[in-house]
Amino acid sequence: IATLAKELKANLKQFPNFPSEGILFEDFLPIFTKPDLFNKLVKAFKLHVGDKKVDYVVGLESRGFLFGPALALALNAGFVPVRKPGKLPGPTYSVEFQKEYGSDKFEIQQDVLPAGSKVLVVDDILATGGSAFAAGELVTKSGAEIVEYLFVMELDFLKGRDKLGKPVFTLLSGQEEKLK
Ligand code: PRP
Ligand code: MG
Repeated sequence: IATLAKELKANLKQFPNFPSEGILFEDFLPIFTKPDLFNKLVKAFKLHVGDKKVDYVVGLESRGFLFGPALALALNAGFVPVRKPGKLPGPTYSVEFQKEYGSDKFEIQQDVLPAGSKVLVVDDILATGGSAFAAGELVTKSGAEIVEYLFVMELDFLKGRDKLGKPVFTLLSGQEEKLK
């Protein structure tokens, strides 16, 4: 995993002062432009998961949709989206969470995750943990069980992982940082 992570890290692109002043943004989109890198991203997560039992990968809109389905296929698991409000048909569970400015909602379709099924929650980046925590609540409301949260990157100075109460794995740890 360390070797894969190193190569993936080398392919991130840095954007200073995005999305706001003082933040060094690490863009992971270049990984998806090259199939060998995209493969390595999935492979690294698959290696980490190992032989843990996983029935579903739950991906967060939007950037968790970029690799969640690919990881699900690699793990021979199903994929279930957590979406922004008003996007999913039929009965949904809904959870409100705090964003930097104001609040937002996430939804999941009811009766999609079977009770007791084992779930990985995946997203590109763990910041405050508000989004991931809300997604976790939706999984729990569905009666399913969170095995672990997986992220590509983490803003560790925001201590989002302390909020989640389940194992958290970040592939490229401590990547984004505050500009000094
Ligand atoms: C970003 C990122 C994570 C979330 C992390 O998504 O992709 O989903 O913020 O922040 P948090 O840990 O503080 O909740 P954003 O809401 O910007 O939307 P996007 O994925 O649709 O671009
Ligand atoms: Mg997001």
